[in-house]
Amino acid sequence: NDASSYPAIDPVDVDFSKYDTVIIGTPLWWSNMAAPMQTFLFHNGKAMAGKKIGLIVSSASSGISGVERDAKRLIPEGNFTKSLWIRSSQFSSAPKMVAEWLKANGLASK
Ligand SMILES: Cc1cc2nc3c(=O)[nH]c(=O)nc-3n(C[C@H](O)[C@H](O)[C@H](O)COP(=O)(O)O)c2cc1C
Repeated sequence: NDASSYPAIDPVDVDFSKYDTVIIGTPLWWSNMAAPMQTFLFHNGKAMAGKKIGLIVSSASSGISGVERDAKRLIPEGNFTKSLWIRSSQFSSAPKMVAEWLKANGLASK
């Protein structure tokens, strides 16, 4: 829980008060959330309190439980839906998988 343990990223200015729902798309690195996304959430996760959070994780093959743990640690008050895991071998099916996941979790606008 120390800012210096996260890699620097360019500033990203988002007014989270405008949003009820946040969808996070991130690759898995060494069974954890990619470090630059962890930096972003370290700085912004608290502003996502009470919001509906959808997590999409891509990996070559590793399971995503470590990434889900990172997301819950960095957004402690998030209201998480079921995550979507996309493996590299599923790349061509990804658009369909995302569309179905959005619908199934009440994240689609229509
Ligand atoms: C630094 C680094 C570490 C990674 N570690 C893992 C890993 O532990 N397990 C895994 O299945 N994939 C790992 N990957 C693969 C990425 O998750 C994958 O490249 C990413 O999800 C994008 O998918 P694509 O390469 O098919 O476009 C790693 C990638 C990088 C760059």
